[in-house]
Amino acid sequence: MGKQRVIVIGATGAAGQNVVESLANHPWFELSALAASSRSAGMTYEKAIEDARFFEKTPGNEVLAMKVIDVEKASPRDYDLAFSALPSEVANVQEPRFAEHVPVISTASAYRYEPDVPILLPDVNPKHAKLIKTQKEKRGWEGFICPGPNCTTVGLVVSLKPLIDAYGVRAIHVVSEQSLSGAGEKGLRLDSTYRKSVEMNVLPYIEGEEGKVEKETNKILGRLSGDGIKEAGIIVGATCTRVHVQTVHTEAVYVDTKKPCSAEEAKETMRSYVNEAQKLKLPSMPEKTIKVFDEPEMPQPKLHRQYGGDVTLVGRLRKDPVFKNGLAYIVTSDNLDKGAGGGAVQSAEYLKAMKYF
Ligand SMILES: NC(=O)c1ccc[n+]([C@@H]2O[C@H](COP(=O)([O-])OP(=O)(O)OC[C@H]3O[C@@H](n4cnc5c(N)ncnc54)[C@H](OP(=O)(O)O)[C@@H]3O)[C@@H](O)[C@H]2O)c1
Repeated sequence: MGKQRVIVIGATGAAGQNVVESLANHPWFELSALAASSRSAGMTYEKAIEDARFFEKTPGNEVLAMKVIDVEKASPRDYDLAFSALPSEVANVQEPRFAEHVPVISTASAYRYEPDVPILLPDVNPKHAKLIKTQKEKRGWEGFICPGPNCTTVGLVVSLKPLIDAYGVRAIHVVSEQSLSGAGEKGLRLDSTYRKSVEMNVLPYIEGEEGKVEKETNKILGRLSGDGIKEAGIIVGATCTRVHVQTVHTEAVYVDTKKPCSAEEAKETMRSYVNEAQKLKLPSMPEKTIKVFDEPEMPQPKLHRQYGGDVTLVGRLRKDPVFKNGLAYIVTSDNLDKGAGGGAVQSAEYLKAMKYF
């Protein structure tokens, strides 16, 4: 069987560039079209991204020379699969237009909170993919929409999942230090007013972010029940800040487990975690998705990519006196790779391996 034809919609933005990078030389998927707004349509991909280019590796000259097309003019039936990295308000219109015909794997929040839509992270909640069947029946679509989480929620839920399985979790508080690339083009363009306001600074507020972390954590860590998801019922408090770091989000996490555990037990629980999706040996899924450090100087956003953009790094794990069964740790997660493009490609691989398309 030949490779599946893929269109990336929102391909010129920060998340879209990571989708494109994550699809380079993919064994199952072939980049057939790159789409963005009418501003970029008609330009080569290289030209369209020149002011906010974020590739770590070049996606290759052939990809850079592709002509960007206008999302609104793209015909969904020309492709087997779509990846969406559009702003939410545009995704709201374009994603269902594509999903009528083909699967849409999305980095946008537009559909995350719909009861028949999973927020999928195969290494955390693979069973939630079953909701896709309900979604297709209910909406009468040939395809479906499957979003991933907000980039700040990713590192949090990946690191919490082993603790929940082993000890249960009653409450958490998280303080994020989010990177510039998490703000998309406005965080990446050197001349943007937003970027300049973060330089040598910390912004204490990111609009909408704290609510997303609180809501998504409980949906992702909840369990599938009938035609929906029963939320996990964890008390979640979040403080989200923007810092002068190019990419990779850092979070200080404070957890109250239901059963007590020592710091060493919690570390071992995270280190040994493997779920059924990881056992499938998908092309882009590492064998272990969490790496735990004993060294107090790790993890750091600047050093994160040495270990891979698809791995969640945990360090400073210790007992904390604030909660009854308190644990505290620092987590770093690559907001563009695991948090957007790489995570989306892992979801597509999982769904294909499980024959959802
Ligand atoms: N950045 C992250 O770390 C991250 C992580 C996870 C999820 N996300 C989500 O991913 C999505 C994209 O975020 P981003 O940070 O990549 O944003 P971005 O850098 O601003 O990119 C936005 C993309 O959407 C296109 N676009 C904008 N308005 C459009 C319109 N009216 N019609 C068609 N295309 C349009 C842009 O095309 P032009 O270049 O032609 O304007 C660009 O390709 C958002 O929903 C965001 O919440 C982002």
